[in-house]
Amino acid sequence: MEPETAKKFFRQPKVVEHYAAAANRVGLWHSEEKIFTRLFNWDDSLLELGCGAGRIAVGLWEIGYRYITALDYSREMVTEARRINEMFEYGIFFHQGDATALKYDDETYEGAIFGFNGLMQIPGRENRRRAMREINRVLVPGSWFVFTTHDRDAHWRKSFWKEQKKLWKDGNQHPDLEMFGDLYYEPPEGGMMFIHTPTCNEIREDLKSAGFRIEADVLRHQLANEPPLVREFADECRFWVAQKPEK
Ligand SMILES: C[S@@+](CC[C@H](N)C(=O)[O-])C[C@H]1O[C@@H](n2cnc3c(N)ncnc32)[C@H](O)[C@@H]1O
Repeated sequence: MEPETAKKFFRQPKVVEHYAAAANRVGLWHSEEKIFTRLFNWDDSLLELGCGAGRIAVGLWEIGYRYITALDYSREMVTEARRINEMFEYGIFFHQGDATALKYDDETYEGAIFGFNGLMQIPGRENRRRAMREINRVLVPGSWFVFTTHDRDAHWRKSFWKEQKKLWKDGNQHPDLEMFGDLYYEPPEGGMMFIHTPTCNEIREDLKSAGFRIEADVLRHQLANEPPLVREFADECRFWVAQKPEK
């Protein structure tokens, strides 16, 4: 499957509406706020990848961060994010762009975020690695990169992946899928959504190959007890904290 096919999902009006509602009503998760405020200084210049309608960027602004650039591949998401930004008179810069080919100079940002499993919605391991390399390139040495993924090793997902293994062994997986862990599903907001569920080892290998040092990885429930609104919007995930090494 071409990456463009997966990205079309995020251009649909109902999907944009869903993420706009999240920007307005869900806001930052407790776990996100805890981790971001621990890692990032208030005057750091931050880059958010896969920002959707701005849930994380808007949340960061509202708790006091002032140098935020947020980017999404979907033009429709960026339009909605800008509308929210203007409505509240916030000063976030929203750009349309592709995380696998960033148009920013080397060593521009002092922190990067790819929240709510967005990095795993890029089809193809080499494309995900390319995004990681690009993020590494635009970060100032010593800066943090935070992102989340689902976790194929998680014990409560084991039976699902066992069934998937059988499906793949028999060649009955969706014909466009490339790698075990890839999945299409139909979320309530409609359409077909692509997501890759990695193992922890896979992410460790990818981060290292992109030049990152891994500081920590932790399941969301170990960080915070999220309120029902957050749990309805997003299920359990693993936070990854990586650092571009100092020179
Ligand atoms: C699960 S949504 C998360 C949106 C937002 N961060 C939130 O938490 O509400 C993932 C977002 O990543 C974006 N995305 C996927 N692949 C991308 C890429 N290669 N470059 C930039 N954005 C991408 C999608 O368009 C989508 O808006």
